[in-house]
Amino acid sequence: MSERPRLLPILGQTGHSGRSAMTCQFRCGNACDHPVPNESDNPYFGDVVKAEVTRRGVVRAGAVGALVLGFAGAAATQAAPALAAPGDAAPDLDALTYSRPSGALTFKPIPPNRLDTFVVPNGYDHSVVIRWGDEVVPGAPDFDLDNQTAAAQSKQFGYNNDFLAVLPLDKHGERALLVVNHEYTNENLMFPGFTTLDALSVEQLKVAIAAHGLSVVELERAGRTGEWVPVRKGSRRYNRRLTALATKFDFTGPAAGSAWLKTAADPRGTTAIGTLNNCAGGVTPWGTTLHGEENFNQYFVGGDGAPAADKPKLARYGISTTVRYTADSRKWDRADERFDLTKHPNEANRFGWIVELDPFDPDSRPRKHTALGRFKHEGANVIVAKSGHVVAYMGDDERFDYLYKFVSDKKFMKGNSWVARKHNLTLLESGTLYVAKLDYTSAAEIDGTGKLPTDGAFNGTGRWIKLVQGNKSYVDGMTAADVLTFTRLAGDAVGATKMDRPEDVEPSLLTGKVYVALTNNTNRGVGTNPKADEANPRNANKHGHILELVEDKGENAAETFTWSVPIVCGDPTDASTYFAGYDKTKVSPISCPDNVAFDGAGNLWISTDGNALGSNDGLFATAIEGPERGHLKQFLTVPFGAETCGPFITTDNRSVFVAVQHPGEITGASVENPASTWPDGDYAKPGVVVTWRLDGKSVGS
Ligand code: FEO
Ligand code: CA
Ligand code: CA
Repeated sequence: MSERPRLLPILGQTGHSGRSAMTCQFRCGNACDHPVPNESDNPYFGDVVKAEVTRRGVVRAGAVGALVLGFAGAAATQAAPALAAPGDAAPDLDALTYSRPSGALTFKPIPPNRLDTFVVPNGYDHSVVIRWGDEVVPGAPDFDLDNQTAAAQSKQFGYNNDFLAVLPLDKHGERALLVVNHEYTNENLMFPGFTTLDALSVEQLKVAIAAHGLSVVELERAGRTGEWVPVRKGSRRYNRRLTALATKFDFTGPAAGSAWLKTAADPRGTTAIGTLNNCAGGVTPWGTTLHGEENFNQYFVGGDGAPAADKPKLARYGISTTVRYTADSRKWDRADERFDLTKHPNEANRFGWIVELDPFDPDSRPRKHTALGRFKHEGANVIVAKSGHVVAYMGDDERFDYLYKFVSDKKFMKGNSWVARKHNLTLLESGTLYVAKLDYTSAAEIDGTGKLPTDGAFNGTGRWIKLVQGNKSYVDGMTAADVLTFTRLAGDAVGATKMDRPEDVEPSLLTGKVYVALTNNTNRGVGTNPKADEANPRNANKHGHILELVEDKGENAAETFTWSVPIVCGDPTDASTYFAGYDKTKVSPISCPDNVAFDGAGNLWISTDGNALGSNDGLFATAIEGPERGHLKQFLTVPFGAETCGPFITTDNRSVFVAVQHPGEITGASVENPASTWPDGDYAKPGVVVTWRLDGKSVGS
């Protein structure tokens, strides 16, 4: 392209929280401007019970029995991993034992800032691994901003990277597979001369559709550092783009082939085209990746013309049933009529699932697992329970929606034989789906200000309420296929607890404890909406909080648990914040926790989305066991207008990956008038960044 002028960042309207109005429109279809989709009157103020909080303590390393994909050169206590050589069709998954939590994270926290650059602590470096438009499929055309085609985008790195995973590909820790979600597009920032979505050509709409999906990219270590770069020569047989335009996904589980999934193009209801709005995800103990389909509602129009009986179901998922187009409609029906629910009312039912991808088998067809239910899936993270069953934890990212878990029917098979691998690939196809109901210890004391109760904690007990087991429904008036396809309605029926936007839900593989990012909920306690409760303790919750869940007897397949809120986010000088009792003068301000991850020492890393304190979004870390619990420090910030996604810390603790999503996404910005010129100094491009310590040592600690 010809050189474009570099302009100073422009400032635009803000949407909810600290997000720009443009992010609200393109990322989630202005979800916060629409009525809360959960109009159920199920109780949000549970029985007041006295809970004895499980005494905290580090569970014996390895006790949770999960296998962890690891890198060579990891901490001394880790067993040397034997990993598949490039060209093998399967990862070798020898068990790795994490080192014990080391306590202090030694990096010096960086200050909040509004810079249009990527900021890391002193003593660290970073580089862009891959950005929108870069080659993924060998032979992809060079990116041409002014002449984008769907065919080219289908071979190039997609837009707005979110979840990422880095999976070892060789036994020396020199090769790895990068797996990435491309959550959504922003056509304002993709196409020069953009005016309106209506003015885009059909080909441009198809570019946007192709820019959604997933990428798999072979990486190699740069020198002996923690830096990684894409492999640019050779076969790169694992490199792969999966798109919303053309990739086929098979349905598995009890709802596969049900009437709800049948369409004119797929009368058997077994195969969908594409995946949409893939937000967070996880890595399974058998080496596959999971990808949540989140705000899929915004891609569909014509809900007003859908059959009357379907309308309440569509509305519960945020799809308008009164007008054909809403202000945030994507207009994809102009490119493909399957996005028109008047013509194809079941098409929306084919999105909102958890997708499993086997990146080590480049010819495999990805699957949508109906046994894990259908909602606005943020992601899913799996642990092997003591019983041997695998447990997936999941959040439905909407104000006042629910927390779920899935327990497999079959048990995890150790090792990496062909038999074990084939078996483990079926684990998410059948099992039990539960929704969480929380009870409280201090219900009467919760006044919505965030003031700690006299027992010193926001805490309580909880139950996993069974919704469906195999093909048997536990919800009156709903079949198993009904429950799995309209899981939100099932949660309403059983009185699940309404949470403040449950985003990432991730178990620590070291302790088995589960961490839930509750990003915010400015509607909490406003108008007729539910008031603060002990698990969501602030009204008009702008900054969010973290919930810690401890399954009874340390058994992740259990049906009862205890919970507490170790972190209530915000500016530490704000009396409503809480950092596990740690000295707040030593804590970094944090707002809107979104994705969580663990490093090889079991520390909790938290990335943010929509910082309502006025700073750029960033990545933070804290110990969660021992005396340093709650000592939260900011590790990095992403450029202006961006959100910090990923994150992923390699198990050798030498590399921290994040996805920089929607840089420069500020209302009024365009390609010609960018609010961010990251990463190349011209216009804004989403991209994946790796950060490492200059002295080659372990990141953070
Ligand atoms: Fe895509 Fe829930 O954030
Ligand atoms: Ca309490
Ligand atoms: Ca997210």
